[in-house]
Amino acid sequence: DPTDDTLSRLIARHRDCEGPLLPILHDMMEAFGHIDEGTYPQLGRALGITRAEIHGVVSFYHDFKTRPNGHHTIKLCRAEACQSVGATETQSALFDRLGLTDFGTTPDGRITVEAVYCLGLCACGPAALVDTQPRGRVSAQSLATEVGA
Ligand code: FES
Repeated sequence: DPTDDTLSRLIARHRDCEGPLLPILHDMMEAFGHIDEGTYPQLGRALGITRAEIHGVVSFYHDFKTRPNGHHTIKLCRAEACQSVGATETQSALFDRLGLTDFGTTPDGRITVEAVYCLGLCACGPAALVDTQPRGRVSAQSLATEVGA
């Protein structure tokens, strides 16, 4: 399995360092885009730690994702200027519409919503990036429509 081979190489690169788990997890994010729980046994054996320890570290850091991103990614600005023109309400309405309780990927795996902090579009907030496209004065409705939800 090419994933196992890549993982073996990543582990080999860091296993003799002090505190190898974090650098390995960062490399896994870069190589795979997420950290599959199926890799925990191999990681655990190589590093002499338990699945629970790995799970604890992965869930502590927001940078680590355990699932791949959806087909569309909405990055919603959470910085101050956008908050002052309704970004928080937009976020709640969008979560409701997509069935999310927090930032992350919808249960059907189609859409990922992430927080970003200022996109340089402060004059036309609330602002967002839909995939790579900047959008101003967004609403839950306009965002959901754009990603086909
Ligand atoms: Fe949202 Fe700057 S604060 S784009």
